[in-house]
Amino acid sequence: MAGGRWLFPLVSVSFVAVLLVLSAISGFIASSAFFAGQPDAADVHRGAAHPPAFAYYISGGRGDASRMIRLLLAVYHPRNRYLLHISADAPNSERADLAIRVRLSMPAVRAFENVDVVGKASPMTPMGSSELAARLHAASVLLRLDGSWDWFVTLNAADYPLVTQDDMIHVFSSVPRDFNFVDHTSDLGWKEYQRVQPIIVDAGIYLANRKQFFQASQKRDTPESFKFFTGSPWVILSRSFIEYSVLGWDNLPRTLLLYFTNVILSQEGYFHSVMCNSPDFQNTTINSNLRYMVWDNPPKMEPHFLNMTDFDRMMESGMPFARQFHQDDPVLNKIDDKVLGRRHHQAVPGAWCSGRKRWWTDPCSHWSNANIMRPGPQAEKFAQVMKDLLDKWKSDSRSCKSHENATISS
Ligand SMILES: *[C@@H]1O[C@H](CO)[C@@H](O)[C@H](O)[C@H]1NC(C)=O
Ligand SMILES: *[C@@H]1O[C@H](CO)[C@@H](O)[C@H](O)[C@H]1NC(C)=O
Ligand SMILES: *[C@@H]1O[C@H](CO)[C@@H](O)[C@H](O)[C@H]1NC(C)=O
Repeated sequence: MAGGRWLFPLVSVSFVAVLLVLSAISGFIASSAFFAGQPDAADVHRGAAHPPAFAYYISGGRGDASRMIRLLLAVYHPRNRYLLHISADAPNSERADLAIRVRLSMPAVRAFENVDVVGKASPMTPMGSSELAARLHAASVLLRLDGSWDWFVTLNAADYPLVTQDDMIHVFSSVPRDFNFVDHTSDLGWKEYQRVQPIIVDAGIYLANRKQFFQASQKRDTPESFKFFTGSPWVILSRSFIEYSVLGWDNLPRTLLLYFTNVILSQEGYFHSVMCNSPDFQNTTINSNLRYMVWDNPPKMEPHFLNMTDFDRMMESGMPFARQFHQDDPVLNKIDDKVLGRRHHQAVPGAWCSGRKRWWTDPCSHWSNANIMRPGPQAEKFAQVMKDLLDKWKSDSRSCKSHENATISS
Protein backbone atom coordinates (compact mmCIF):
# COMPACT_ATOMS: atom_id res chain seq x y z
CA MET A 1 0.00 0.00 0.00
CA ALA A 2 1.44 3.33 -0.99
CA GLY A 3 2.34 5.04 2.26
CA GLY A 4 -0.76 3.72 4.00
CA ARG A 5 -0.98 5.43 7.36
CA TRP A 6 -4.05 3.72 8.58
CA LEU A 7 -3.84 2.16 11.97
CA PHE A 8 -4.26 -1.51 11.77
CA PRO A 9 -4.58 -3.85 14.70
CA LEU A 10 -1.99 -6.21 13.35
CA VAL A 11 0.87 -7.43 15.41
CA SER A 12 3.15 -6.30 12.69
CA VAL A 13 5.96 -8.70 12.18
CA SER A 14 8.26 -5.72 11.77
CA PHE A 15 7.13 -4.35 15.12
CA VAL A 16 8.17 -7.61 16.63
CA ALA A 17 11.55 -7.10 14.99
CA VAL A 18 12.06 -4.06 17.16
CA LEU A 19 11.36 -6.13 20.23
CA LEU A 20 13.80 -8.71 19.08
CA VAL A 21 16.56 -6.22 18.42
CA LEU A 22 15.92 -4.72 21.84
CA SER A 23 16.26 -8.05 23.46
CA ALA A 24 19.42 -8.47 21.42
CA ILE A 25 18.90 -12.00 20.28
CA SER A 26 22.26 -12.79 18.87
CA GLY A 27 22.43 -14.01 15.35
CA PHE A 28 19.35 -12.10 14.34
CA ILE A 29 21.14 -8.92 13.40
CA ALA A 30 23.84 -10.97 11.77
CA SER A 31 21.27 -12.79 9.69
CA SER A 32 19.76 -9.50 8.48
CA ALA A 33 23.15 -8.47 7.16
CA PHE A 34 23.56 -11.96 5.82
CA PHE A 35 20.71 -11.67 3.32
CA ALA A 36 21.51 -8.14 2.21
CA GLY A 37 21.94 -8.17 -1.55
CA GLN A 38 19.62 -11.12 -2.07
CA PRO A 39 16.35 -10.46 -3.94
CA ASP A 40 13.46 -9.14 -1.85
CA ALA A 41 9.81 -8.24 -2.37
CA ALA A 42 10.71 -5.66 -5.03
CA ASP A 43 12.10 -8.44 -7.23
CA VAL A 44 8.88 -10.46 -7.16
CA HIS A 45 6.89 -9.79 -10.33
CA ARG A 46 3.14 -9.97 -10.01
CA GLY A 47 0.34 -9.29 -12.47
CA ALA A 48 -1.29 -10.85 -15.51
CA ALA A 49 1.96 -11.32 -17.42
CA HIS A 50 3.60 -13.16 -14.52
CA PRO A 51 2.92 -16.34 -12.59
CA PRO A 52 0.02 -16.02 -10.11
CA ALA A 53 0.31 -15.35 -6.39
CA PHE A 54 -1.91 -16.44 -3.50
CA ALA A 55 -3.12 -14.70 -0.37
CA TYR A 56 -3.38 -17.36 2.33
CA TYR A 57 -5.57 -16.82 5.34
CA ILE A 58 -4.59 -19.38 7.99
CA SER A 59 -6.93 -19.52 10.96
CA GLY A 60 -6.64 -21.42 14.20
CA GLY A 61 -7.77 -21.47 17.78
CA ARG A 62 -6.18 -21.64 21.20
CA GLY A 63 -3.11 -23.90 21.22
CA ASP A 64 -2.80 -24.00 17.42
CA ALA A 65 0.35 -21.86 17.06
CA SER A 66 2.70 -24.78 16.37
CA ARG A 67 0.45 -26.29 13.73
CA MET A 68 0.03 -22.89 12.08
CA ILE A 69 3.81 -22.42 11.86
CA ARG A 70 4.19 -25.87 10.37
CA LEU A 71 1.44 -25.18 7.84
CA LEU A 72 2.99 -21.80 7.01
CA LEU A 73 6.35 -23.45 6.28
CA ALA A 74 4.60 -26.06 4.13
CA VAL A 75 2.85 -23.44 1.96
CA TYR A 76 5.46 -20.68 2.06
CA HIS A 77 6.63 -19.00 -1.11
CA PRO A 78 8.04 -15.47 -1.46
CA ARG A 79 5.41 -14.63 -4.14
CA ASN A 80 2.51 -15.21 -1.78
CA ARG A 81 1.06 -13.24 1.10
CA TYR A 82 0.06 -14.78 4.44
CA LEU A 83 -2.23 -13.68 7.24
CA LEU A 84 -2.41 -15.78 10.41
CA HIS A 85 -5.28 -15.43 12.86
CA ILE A 86 -5.67 -17.10 16.22
CA SER A 87 -9.24 -16.59 17.42
CA ALA A 88 -10.17 -14.54 20.47
CA ASP A 89 -10.43 -17.58 22.75
CA ALA A 90 -6.60 -17.62 22.98
CA PRO A 91 -4.72 -15.14 25.18
CA ASN A 92 -2.82 -12.28 23.55
CA SER A 93 0.46 -13.80 24.63
CA GLU A 94 -0.20 -16.66 22.24
CA ARG A 95 -0.57 -14.24 19.32
CA ALA A 96 2.59 -12.34 20.28
CA ASP A 97 4.41 -15.64 20.57
CA LEU A 98 3.15 -16.68 17.13
CA ALA A 99 4.36 -13.40 15.62
CA ILE A 100 7.84 -13.92 17.08
CA ARG A 101 7.98 -17.51 15.92
CA VAL A 102 6.90 -16.47 12.41
CA ARG A 103 9.66 -13.89 12.33
CA LEU A 104 12.26 -16.40 13.47
CA SER A 105 10.97 -19.23 11.30
CA MET A 106 13.15 -18.43 8.29
CA PRO A 107 15.20 -15.55 6.93
CA ALA A 108 12.99 -15.23 3.82
CA VAL A 109 10.02 -14.14 5.97
CA ARG A 110 12.11 -11.21 7.23
CA ALA A 111 13.41 -10.31 3.80
CA PHE A 112 10.11 -10.54 1.88
CA GLU A 113 7.93 -9.28 4.76
CA ASN A 114 4.97 -11.23 3.44
CA VAL A 115 3.61 -12.80 6.64
CA ASP A 116 1.41 -10.99 9.18
CA VAL A 117 -0.37 -12.04 12.31
CA VAL A 118 -3.72 -10.52 13.28
CA GLY A 119 -3.08 -8.72 16.58
CA LYS A 120 -6.63 -7.85 17.60
CA ALA A 121 -8.34 -11.18 17.26
CA SER A 122 -11.95 -11.81 16.33
CA PRO A 123 -14.11 -14.40 18.01
CA MET A 124 -14.79 -17.48 15.94
CA THR A 125 -17.95 -18.98 17.37
CA PRO A 126 -18.14 -22.37 15.68
CA MET A 127 -21.78 -22.10 14.59
CA GLY A 128 -22.23 -18.34 14.45
CA SER A 129 -21.41 -15.62 11.99
CA SER A 130 -18.28 -14.35 13.76
CA GLU A 131 -16.20 -16.75 11.69
CA LEU A 132 -17.56 -15.19 8.50
CA ALA A 133 -16.80 -11.73 9.91
CA ALA A 134 -13.22 -12.88 10.62
CA ARG A 135 -12.87 -14.07 7.02
CA LEU A 136 -14.15 -10.84 5.54
CA HIS A 137 -11.79 -8.96 7.85
CA ALA A 138 -8.88 -11.13 6.72
CA ALA A 139 -9.78 -10.61 3.06
CA SER A 140 -9.91 -6.86 3.43
CA VAL A 141 -6.64 -6.76 5.41
CA LEU A 142 -4.97 -8.81 2.68
CA LEU A 143 -6.30 -6.44 0.01
CA ARG A 144 -5.05 -3.49 1.99
CA LEU A 145 -1.61 -4.92 2.76
CA ASP A 146 -0.94 -5.95 -0.78
CA GLY A 147 -3.53 -5.86 -3.51
CA SER A 148 -1.56 -7.62 -6.22
CA TRP A 149 -2.24 -11.26 -5.37
CA ASP A 150 -4.58 -13.31 -7.53
CA TRP A 151 -6.43 -15.74 -5.25
CA PHE A 152 -7.56 -15.75 -1.63
CA VAL A 153 -7.22 -19.20 -0.04
CA THR A 154 -8.78 -20.14 3.30
CA LEU A 155 -6.84 -22.68 5.35
CA ASN A 156 -7.14 -23.90 8.90
CA ALA A 157 -4.53 -25.21 11.35
CA ALA A 158 -5.86 -28.75 10.75
CA ASP A 159 -5.19 -28.57 6.97
CA TYR A 160 -2.07 -29.51 5.04
CA PRO A 161 -0.92 -29.11 1.42
CA LEU A 162 -0.43 -32.11 -0.87
CA VAL A 163 1.51 -30.15 -3.50
CA THR A 164 4.41 -27.71 -3.34
CA GLN A 165 3.82 -24.02 -4.00
CA ASP A 166 5.83 -24.42 -7.20
CA ASP A 167 3.20 -26.99 -8.27
CA MET A 168 0.36 -24.76 -7.15
CA ILE A 169 1.65 -21.66 -8.96
CA HIS A 170 2.49 -23.70 -12.04
CA VAL A 171 -0.97 -25.27 -12.32
CA PHE A 172 -2.82 -22.03 -11.59
CA SER A 173 -0.78 -20.30 -14.31
CA SER A 174 -3.14 -21.82 -16.86
CA VAL A 175 -6.34 -20.90 -15.01
CA PRO A 176 -8.13 -17.64 -15.89
CA ARG A 177 -7.49 -15.31 -12.96
CA ASP A 178 -11.16 -14.55 -12.41
CA PHE A 179 -12.12 -18.16 -11.67
CA ASN A 180 -13.35 -19.18 -8.22
CA PHE A 181 -13.19 -22.60 -6.61
CA VAL A 182 -16.21 -23.05 -4.41
CA ASP A 183 -17.94 -26.31 -3.63
CA HIS A 184 -21.61 -25.39 -3.81
CA THR A 185 -25.12 -26.67 -4.30
CA SER A 186 -28.63 -25.34 -4.05
CA ASP A 187 -29.88 -28.78 -3.15
CA LEU A 188 -30.40 -27.98 0.49
CA GLY A 189 -31.98 -31.29 1.54
CA TRP A 190 -31.87 -31.76 5.32
CA LYS A 191 -29.89 -28.55 5.61
CA GLU A 192 -32.95 -26.49 4.73
CA TYR A 193 -34.62 -27.21 8.06
CA GLN A 194 -31.49 -27.50 10.20
CA ARG A 195 -29.20 -24.88 8.71
CA VAL A 196 -31.15 -22.41 6.57
CA GLN A 197 -34.34 -21.83 8.50
CA PRO A 198 -33.11 -21.47 12.10
CA ILE A 199 -32.46 -17.90 13.25
CA ILE A 200 -29.43 -17.53 15.47
CA VAL A 201 -27.51 -14.71 17.13
CA ASP A 202 -23.77 -15.02 17.60
CA ALA A 203 -22.95 -13.72 21.09
CA GLY A 204 -19.24 -13.52 20.22
CA ILE A 205 -19.98 -10.49 18.07
CA TYR A 206 -21.34 -8.26 20.82
CA LEU A 207 -20.21 -9.78 24.12
CA ALA A 208 -16.60 -10.18 25.19
CA ASN A 209 -15.39 -13.74 25.68
CA ARG A 210 -18.54 -15.39 24.46
CA LYS A 211 -18.44 -18.55 22.47
CA GLN A 212 -22.13 -19.38 22.44
CA PHE A 213 -24.95 -18.45 20.18
CA PHE A 214 -28.63 -18.08 20.86
CA GLN A 215 -31.25 -19.73 18.74
CA ALA A 216 -34.71 -18.32 18.25
CA SER A 217 -37.59 -20.67 18.89
CA GLN A 218 -39.15 -19.71 15.56
CA LYS A 219 -37.77 -20.51 12.14
CA ARG A 220 -38.00 -18.36 9.05
CA ASP A 221 -38.89 -19.36 5.52
CA THR A 222 -36.19 -20.11 3.02
CA PRO A 223 -35.60 -16.81 1.19
CA GLU A 224 -37.23 -16.13 -2.14
CA SER A 225 -35.52 -12.94 -3.21
CA PHE A 226 -32.27 -14.82 -3.82
CA LYS A 227 -31.33 -18.42 -4.30
CA PHE A 228 -29.69 -19.98 -1.25
CA PHE A 229 -26.50 -21.91 -2.02
CA THR A 230 -24.51 -23.90 0.48
CA GLY A 231 -21.27 -25.86 0.47
CA SER A 232 -17.80 -26.15 1.90
CA PRO A 233 -16.35 -23.20 3.83
CA TRP A 234 -12.92 -23.94 2.34
CA VAL A 235 -12.66 -21.79 -0.77
CA ILE A 236 -10.26 -20.29 -3.31
CA LEU A 237 -11.63 -16.93 -4.42
CA SER A 238 -10.39 -14.60 -7.12
CA ARG A 239 -9.20 -11.14 -6.20
CA SER A 240 -11.96 -9.61 -8.32
CA PHE A 241 -14.59 -11.50 -6.35
CA ILE A 242 -13.02 -10.47 -3.03
CA GLU A 243 -12.98 -6.85 -4.18
CA TYR A 244 -16.62 -7.19 -5.18
CA SER A 245 -17.50 -8.66 -1.76
CA VAL A 246 -15.46 -6.24 0.33
CA LEU A 247 -15.33 -3.00 -1.64
CA GLY A 248 -18.07 -3.44 -4.24
CA TRP A 249 -20.60 -0.81 -5.20
CA ASP A 250 -23.21 -3.45 -5.93
CA ASN A 251 -25.34 -3.96 -2.83
CA LEU A 252 -25.83 -7.73 -3.12
CA PRO A 253 -22.86 -8.67 -0.87
CA ARG A 254 -24.13 -6.37 1.89
CA THR A 255 -27.76 -7.38 1.58
CA LEU A 256 -26.79 -11.03 1.89
CA LEU A 257 -24.42 -10.25 4.75
CA LEU A 258 -27.32 -8.82 6.74
CA TYR A 259 -29.29 -11.96 6.06
CA PHE A 260 -26.38 -14.32 6.83
CA THR A 261 -25.66 -12.64 10.17
CA ASN A 262 -28.36 -14.85 11.64
CA VAL A 263 -27.69 -18.04 9.73
CA ILE A 264 -26.07 -21.07 11.37
CA LEU A 265 -22.64 -21.78 9.84
CA SER A 266 -22.85 -18.70 7.64
CA GLN A 267 -19.36 -19.38 6.27
CA GLU A 268 -20.88 -22.40 4.49
CA GLY A 269 -23.26 -20.28 2.47
CA TYR A 270 -22.33 -16.63 2.26
CA PHE A 271 -19.71 -16.56 -0.51
CA HIS A 272 -21.56 -19.34 -2.31
CA SER A 273 -24.82 -17.39 -2.37
CA VAL A 274 -23.22 -14.05 -3.25
CA MET A 275 -21.33 -15.63 -6.11
CA CYS A 276 -24.20 -17.64 -7.52
CA ASN A 277 -26.67 -14.78 -7.34
CA SER A 278 -24.35 -12.34 -9.06
CA PRO A 279 -24.56 -12.32 -12.89
CA ASP A 280 -20.92 -11.21 -13.10
CA PHE A 281 -19.54 -14.08 -11.05
CA GLN A 282 -21.86 -17.04 -11.43
CA ASN A 283 -20.14 -18.10 -14.65
CA THR A 284 -16.69 -18.09 -13.08
CA THR A 285 -17.44 -20.68 -10.42
CA ILE A 286 -15.80 -24.10 -10.50
CA ASN A 287 -17.71 -26.50 -8.30
CA SER A 288 -14.81 -27.87 -6.26
CA ASN A 289 -12.99 -26.70 -3.17
CA LEU A 290 -9.78 -28.51 -4.25
CA ARG A 291 -9.49 -30.28 -0.88
CA TYR A 292 -9.20 -33.98 -0.18
CA MET A 293 -11.72 -34.82 2.55
CA VAL A 294 -13.35 -38.03 3.66
CA TRP A 295 -16.80 -37.86 5.19
CA ASP A 296 -18.50 -40.26 7.50
CA ASN A 297 -21.87 -41.57 6.47
CA PRO A 298 -24.00 -39.80 7.56
CA PRO A 299 -21.64 -36.80 7.53
CA LYS A 300 -20.58 -35.24 10.82
CA MET A 301 -19.74 -31.55 11.25
CA GLU A 302 -16.15 -32.12 10.16
CA PRO A 303 -14.56 -34.71 7.86
CA HIS A 304 -12.57 -37.69 9.12
CA PHE A 305 -9.13 -37.21 10.57
CA LEU A 306 -6.80 -38.45 7.87
CA ASN A 307 -3.89 -40.74 8.75
CA MET A 308 -1.29 -43.04 7.24
CA THR A 309 -3.94 -45.35 5.75
CA ASP A 310 -5.22 -42.46 3.61
CA PHE A 311 -1.83 -41.51 2.14
CA ASP A 312 -2.09 -43.31 -1.21
CA ARG A 313 -5.66 -42.22 -1.88
CA MET A 314 -4.77 -38.64 -0.93
CA MET A 315 -1.92 -38.58 -3.43
CA GLU A 316 -4.01 -40.29 -6.07
CA SER A 317 -6.69 -37.59 -5.74
CA GLY A 318 -4.38 -34.93 -7.19
CA MET A 319 -5.91 -32.36 -4.84
CA PRO A 320 -3.66 -29.54 -3.64
CA PHE A 321 -4.88 -29.61 0.00
CA ALA A 322 -6.26 -32.11 2.47
CA ARG A 323 -8.35 -31.77 5.60
CA GLN A 324 -8.19 -32.67 8.44
CA PHE A 325 -5.21 -33.93 10.44
CA HIS A 326 -4.33 -34.36 14.09
CA GLN A 327 -1.39 -32.28 15.23
CA ASP A 328 1.90 -33.92 14.18
CA ASP A 329 0.18 -37.01 12.80
CA PRO A 330 2.88 -39.27 11.31
CA VAL A 331 1.28 -38.96 7.86
CA LEU A 332 2.27 -35.28 7.81
CA ASN A 333 5.91 -36.35 8.10
CA LYS A 334 5.37 -38.72 5.21
CA ILE A 335 3.88 -35.91 3.09
CA ASP A 336 6.84 -33.69 3.99
CA ASP A 337 9.27 -36.42 3.15
CA LYS A 338 7.77 -37.98 0.01
CA VAL A 339 5.95 -35.09 -1.60
CA LEU A 340 7.07 -31.69 -0.37
CA GLY A 341 10.74 -32.49 0.23
CA ARG A 342 10.43 -30.44 3.40
CA ARG A 343 12.64 -30.93 6.42
CA HIS A 344 11.78 -30.18 10.02
CA HIS A 345 11.52 -26.44 10.77
CA GLN A 346 12.26 -25.54 7.16
CA ALA A 347 10.25 -24.31 4.21
CA VAL A 348 9.50 -26.45 1.17
CA PRO A 349 12.60 -26.01 -1.03
CA GLY A 350 11.12 -24.49 -4.18
CA ALA A 351 12.99 -23.21 -7.22
CA TRP A 352 13.46 -19.92 -5.37
CA CYS A 353 15.79 -21.56 -2.84
CA SER A 354 19.37 -21.39 -4.00
CA GLY A 355 21.31 -22.55 -0.95
CA ARG A 356 23.34 -25.73 -1.08
CA LYS A 357 21.49 -28.93 -0.40
CA ARG A 358 23.54 -30.32 2.45
CA TRP A 359 22.03 -32.04 5.42
CA TRP A 360 23.20 -29.34 7.81
CA THR A 361 22.01 -26.33 5.79
CA ASP A 362 18.60 -25.03 4.83
CA PRO A 363 18.54 -24.56 1.05
CA CYS A 364 16.03 -21.74 1.56
CA SER A 365 18.40 -19.68 3.71
CA HIS A 366 19.65 -18.33 0.38
CA TRP A 367 17.41 -17.50 -2.51
CA SER A 368 17.40 -16.17 -6.00
CA ASN A 369 14.57 -15.73 -8.47
CA ALA A 370 11.05 -16.09 -6.99
CA ASN A 371 9.50 -15.80 -10.45
CA ILE A 372 10.49 -19.27 -11.63
CA MET A 373 8.91 -22.57 -10.59
CA ARG A 374 10.10 -26.14 -10.62
CA PRO A 375 6.95 -28.28 -10.55
CA GLY A 376 7.30 -31.78 -9.13
CA PRO A 377 5.48 -35.07 -9.83
CA GLN A 378 2.27 -34.12 -7.94
CA ALA A 379 1.87 -31.13 -10.27
CA GLU A 380 0.98 -33.48 -13.12
CA LYS A 381 -1.85 -35.08 -11.17
CA PHE A 382 -3.09 -31.73 -9.97
CA ALA A 383 -2.90 -30.33 -13.52
CA GLN A 384 -5.06 -33.24 -14.70
CA VAL A 385 -7.64 -32.55 -11.99
CA MET A 386 -7.66 -28.90 -12.98
CA LYS A 387 -8.02 -29.73 -16.67
CA ASP A 388 -10.97 -32.03 -15.96
CA LEU A 389 -12.67 -29.37 -13.85
CA LEU A 390 -12.19 -26.70 -16.51
CA ASP A 391 -13.40 -29.06 -19.26
CA LYS A 392 -16.48 -29.92 -17.25
CA TRP A 393 -17.13 -26.24 -16.65
CA LYS A 394 -16.84 -25.57 -20.41
CA SER A 395 -19.01 -28.45 -21.51
CA ASP A 396 -22.07 -27.90 -19.35
CA SER A 397 -21.28 -24.74 -17.39
CA ARG A 398 -22.79 -26.53 -14.44
CA SER A 399 -21.76 -23.89 -11.94
CA CYS A 400 -24.48 -22.26 -9.88
CA LYS A 401 -27.22 -24.32 -11.51
CA SER A 402 -30.20 -24.76 -9.30
CA HIS A 403 -30.51 -28.33 -8.18
CA GLU A 404 -33.65 -29.22 -10.14
CA ASN A 405 -31.60 -29.04 -13.31
CA ALA A 406 -28.37 -30.39 -11.86
CA THR A 407 -30.11 -33.59 -10.82
CA ILE A 408 -31.78 -33.98 -14.20
CA SER A 409 -28.51 -33.85 -16.09
CA SER A 410 -26.50 -36.06 -13.74
C1 LIG B 1 -23.30 -16.48 -17.88
O1 LIG B 1 -23.78 -17.62 -18.54
C2 LIG B 1 -25.12 -17.51 -18.95
C3 LIG B 1 -25.56 -18.84 -19.55
O2 LIG B 1 -24.53 -19.48 -20.22
C4 LIG B 1 -25.24 -16.35 -19.96
O3 LIG B 1 -26.58 -16.22 -20.36
C5 LIG B 1 -24.76 -15.07 -19.29
O4 LIG B 1 -24.77 -14.01 -20.20
C6 LIG B 1 -23.36 -15.24 -18.75
N1 LIG B 1 -23.00 -14.06 -17.98
C7 LIG B 1 -21.86 -13.41 -18.15
C8 LIG B 1 -21.66 -12.22 -17.30
O5 LIG B 1 -21.00 -13.76 -18.95
C1 LIG C 1 -6.69 -44.31 10.53
O1 LIG C 1 -8.04 -43.93 10.61
C2 LIG C 1 -8.95 -45.01 10.42
C3 LIG C 1 -10.35 -44.46 10.37
O2 LIG C 1 -10.54 -43.41 11.26
C4 LIG C 1 -8.75 -46.02 11.54
O3 LIG C 1 -9.63 -47.10 11.36
C5 LIG C 1 -7.32 -46.50 11.51
O4 LIG C 1 -7.07 -47.36 12.60
C6 LIG C 1 -6.34 -45.34 11.58
N1 LIG C 1 -5.01 -45.84 11.34
C7 LIG C 1 -3.95 -45.46 12.04
C8 LIG C 1 -2.63 -46.01 11.61
O5 LIG C 1 -4.05 -44.68 12.98
C1 LIG D 1 -34.07 -25.99 -15.72
O1 LIG D 1 -34.47 -26.78 -16.80
C2 LIG D 1 -35.74 -26.43 -17.34
C3 LIG D 1 -36.09 -27.42 -18.44
O2 LIG D 1 -34.98 -27.94 -19.05
C4 LIG D 1 -35.67 -25.00 -17.88
O3 LIG D 1 -36.91 -24.61 -18.40
C5 LIG D 1 -35.29 -24.07 -16.73
O4 LIG D 1 -35.12 -22.75 -17.22
C6 LIG D 1 -33.98 -24.54 -16.09
N1 LIG D 1 -33.73 -23.73 -14.92
C7 LIG D 1 -32.55 -23.16 -14.69
C8 LIG D 1 -32.47 -22.38 -13.43
O5 LIG D 1 -31.59 -23.31 -15.40
